Amino acid sequence: MSTEPLLKLEQFPDDGLAEVEAVVDGDAESLVLFRDGDRVRAWFNICPHAGRRLDWSPGRFLRSKDGLLVCAAHGASFELAGGACVAGPCRGEALREVAVEVRDGAVWLGADD
Ligand code: FES
Repeated sequence: MSTEPLLKLEQFPDDGLAEVEAVVDGDAESLVLFRDGDRVRAWFNICPHAGRRLDWSPGRFLRSKDGLLVCAAHGASFELAGGACVAGPCRGEALREVAVEVRDGAVWLGADD
């Protein structure tokens, strides 16, 4: 049970991406967070193409002109509504979502179920 938030919303601009470290199911993981107004979505920071991190440096993500998240390794592009790969070497696959919730001005890991 986490007692610390993943990130405070005041540190996280709207339409922004952030990288955080968190323990998920007992394992230390890197997560990608995306803020969409008052909502935040999260995925494991693992590209379905070759299992590499999506950021080129911790917390530094590439975005296309139309707002897609672009994997720094080989250019797979992901839409940020659902994490689906829409172009590149793993088109048709998707990022693995992690449940998070926004509460008290911060982002927290959500319930697993
Ligand atoms: S590992 Fe992401 S595109 Fe290859």
